Amino acid sequence: MSVARVAVVTSGAGVEHDVDLPLIVDALRADGLSAEPVVWNTASVTWERFDLAVIRSAWDYVERLDEFLTWADATAGVTRLWNPASVVRWNSDKHYLGELARRGVSVVPTRFLEPGRGITPADFDGADGVVVKPAVSAGALDTARYEPGRHANAARHARMLLDRGRSVMVQPYLPRVDEGERALVFVGGAFSHAIRKDPLLTEPGVIDNNLVPHLGVAPYRPTEPEIGTAVAALATVPSPVAPLFARVDLVLGNAGEPVVLELELIEPNLFLQTDPEGLGRFVEAVAARAGAAH
Ligand SMILES: Nc1ncnc2c1ncn2[C@@H]1O[C@H](COP(=O)(O)OP(=O)(O)O)[C@@H](O)[C@H]1O
Ligand SMILES: [Mg+2]
Repeated sequence: MSVARVAVVTSGAGVEHDVDLPLIVDALRADGLSAEPVVWNTASVTWERFDLAVIRSAWDYVERLDEFLTWADATAGVTRLWNPASVVRWNSDKHYLGELARRGVSVVPTRFLEPGRGITPADFDGADGVVVKPAVSAGALDTARYEPGRHANAARHARMLLDRGRSVMVQPYLPRVDEGERALVFVGGAFSHAIRKDPLLTEPGVIDNNLVPHLGVAPYRPTEPEIGTAVAALATVPSPVAPLFARVDLVLGNAGEPVVLELELIEPNLFLQTDPEGLGRFVEAVAARAGAAH
């Protein structure tokens, strides 16, 4: 049998900063596969020549969502794409949090504000303040926290996004994020490993688009309730097959219950440097999906 060819899909920023990328490429090669990083929107790439394309760090998709989703559909038409294009589309808009809540998963309470509809000061009420962020977002871009009573500032932020045609989410600020946000990584549908990280929105009232998204990362052993919540969240993904990779980000609510902050099925950091066995599981899952005939 010929050697399976894997494209590890990235972006300009991913090539420079994605720490998972070289680990994955090297481990796939050590496993006997052909693996190369490929920037997703490189015009000259013939995706047909790969047995599998695994999206790794297409971090700029947020700014060009339509183009990215079109690319995902087209690529899935000529090679195996993971995660599947339909899952990528579903996960690219955090309106899915509303769906999770309706299905009984414990998520951070989220109010969605839509372009063309009015907003009121009450939209920004919250005993511990609120967080305002776009529904299509990554890396804490255009995200800020407002202290209680700062309705006018929060509303100005929301209006700035709404005027650009973007849906907005308003959430209560969850102070127990200070104990660490948990990121649970799943490979092939099974829990693999987890980390905790420091809170990001330490300065209220400021939109800082240069925040370093993962600070204070350390391996973390999740509790049973945390694993249960993450599994329940993943059960809502509209796909008959388990995602190749998934990350469920959790924060503790005021009563200590884990709540889902986001479900990452497109291009999450997988923190494989913190868990060599997790890297092994990931590479094994990629190899298994790259091997069988189309
Ligand atoms: N409701 C919230 N309460 C406390 N912190 C929050 C809240 N929402 C976001 N944050 C902080 O902002 C960061 C980025 O927000 P997140 O919802 O993860 O969006 P994304 O990572 O897609 O930009 C989180 O990692 C967390 O530190
Ligand atoms: Mg996040």
